[in-house]
Amino acid sequence: MTDEQSGRGGAPPLLELTGVSKSFGGVTALRDVDFTLYPGEIHGLVGENGAGKSTMMKIIAGVHHDFEGVMKIRGVETRLRSARDALASSIGMVHQELSIVPELSVAENVFLGKQPLTTLGIVDWPRMNREAKALIASLGLDIDPAAAMGTLPVGLQQLVELSRVLFSGAQIIILDEPTSALSPPEIRQLFDVLRRLRSEGRSIIFISHFLDDVLAISDRVTVFRNGKKVITDETRKLTKDAVIAHMIGRGSIDMHMGEDAMLAGDDSKPVVLSLENVGDGRTLHDFSIELRAGEITGVYGFMGSGQIELARALFGKLPLRRGSVKLDGKPVRFRSTAGARKAGIAFLPENRQMMLFRTEPVFKNVSIAILDRIHRLLVKPAEEKRITEGHIKDLQIRPPRTEIALGSLSGGNQQKVALAKWLTHLPKVLVLSEPTRGMDVGAKEDVIRIVKSLRDKGVAILVLSAEPETILTLADRVTVMKKGTVARQFSSGKIEKADLLAAA
Ligand SMILES: Nc1ncnc2c1ncn2[C@@H]1O[C@H](COP(=O)(O)OP(=O)(O)O)[C@@H](O)[C@H]1O
Ligand SMILES: [Mg+2]
Repeated sequence: MTDEQSGRGGAPPLLELTGVSKSFGGVTALRDVDFTLYPGEIHGLVGENGAGKSTMMKIIAGVHHDFEGVMKIRGVETRLRSARDALASSIGMVHQELSIVPELSVAENVFLGKQPLTTLGIVDWPRMNREAKALIASLGLDIDPAAAMGTLPVGLQQLVELSRVLFSGAQIIILDEPTSALSPPEIRQLFDVLRRLRSEGRSIIFISHFLDDVLAISDRVTVFRNGKKVITDETRKLTKDAVIAHMIGRGSIDMHMGEDAMLAGDDSKPVVLSLENVGDGRTLHDFSIELRAGEITGVYGFMGSGQIELARALFGKLPLRRGSVKLDGKPVRFRSTAGARKAGIAFLPENRQMMLFRTEPVFKNVSIAILDRIHRLLVKPAEEKRITEGHIKDLQIRPPRTEIALGSLSGGNQQKVALAKWLTHLPKVLVLSEPTRGMDVGAKEDVIRIVKSLRDKGVAILVLSAEPETILTLADRVTVMKKGTVARQFSSGKIEKADLLAAA
């Protein structure tokens, strides 16, 4: 028997998947995957975005039931058909996307669907509140069980959701990126609970991008790449570098673009915006960065590393409690979105729909940023269209028509329209969050070209992304962000994807 087959103390596996494949339409998400989970084991599961981790967990939890292959629970072939089935088989999952009900109370969320009843068959509120409070307290939290869930910060919501599954009595507990919104002390609390559950013989599958966390908490680690299982091994036999090499397949033939880059940071270029040791009192702390005119600075970090907070701070949406911000060498404080924009900071959020008017024609969406320059009060449609037509040609927006509703364009073309706004009225600083996520290759290339041309016109650009390829394709310098602060900076020379993953 190999290490992989023998469980802790030789017990038979609690869960066993053999030859599991799953596709969505034409996309193969999982290909012939084998996976085992033993009683009393914390099993780390890692892989790049899109590797198939969540898909496999959803199969185990009964969300996807049309898959190929065999799943056995306690040696018995099983096919779960719903989350209810999974619960009956003692499987509980915390999904990557929060599934709380914001309008309900904390206690109701903890007991969602199985509230304790009185002998009369009605919900036993005092008992429910009492028990919810006790469960939450064992995660080290003091939260009012009667508070509406939606009023809590996201980190706390995530902990409440965790407590629901952790204390449901489930034998197999699946945590899909549970730490993305948690602070370090909260993660420590969670890990204490996980160890306690393990000592009770329960089994946990722990998915996270934070490799240090995975290596710290797990007994074994499985690595997925492109829908395939690459390796399962005991954690003590693995290093972070080895895990990264398995994740990205370094040395294998599926090397592709965006694996490395030559950085070209130029210290002679003027600093436009600088942040020095800024913090928000929760997620961001001691974060410093300098954005220079005519440069693209990439900030790489996983979801939950503080990128969203950084963007919000730059856009006047998140008050900073510590540190200083300087624009052209002068101290500034952005108190509102309008204030930041007036100071010359433009922001294109990942959810670009927010910044666009889908039912309005393309030309309106382009001219919205430049209305000031066309005419303050009276917008001349002819002028709007003339400017927009020029951009549509430059940006190769398809179809090349100014009149059609923006919502009828593809995502990539919508992104180009969103960028086009800034071409006529150059901002000092342009903050882009995940500028090419989910785009086809052609649209990606166009967006990259536009961003680089804005840089070449002297704009100081900040690109925030959790995709190493995006950062490596665009950035002249790179800051790796981790747990709200600077983990590493790269300003010149060759940089590889593995360097980014190792620093994060
Ligand atoms: N419901 C779905 N419909 C279509 N495609 C999906 C669906 N869920 C996942 N996929 C695709 O399957 C692949 C694996 O996704 P996922 O399991 O979410 O990866 P991971 O959790 O490792 O990031 C991706 O290409 C993703 O786009
Ligand atoms: Mg996932």
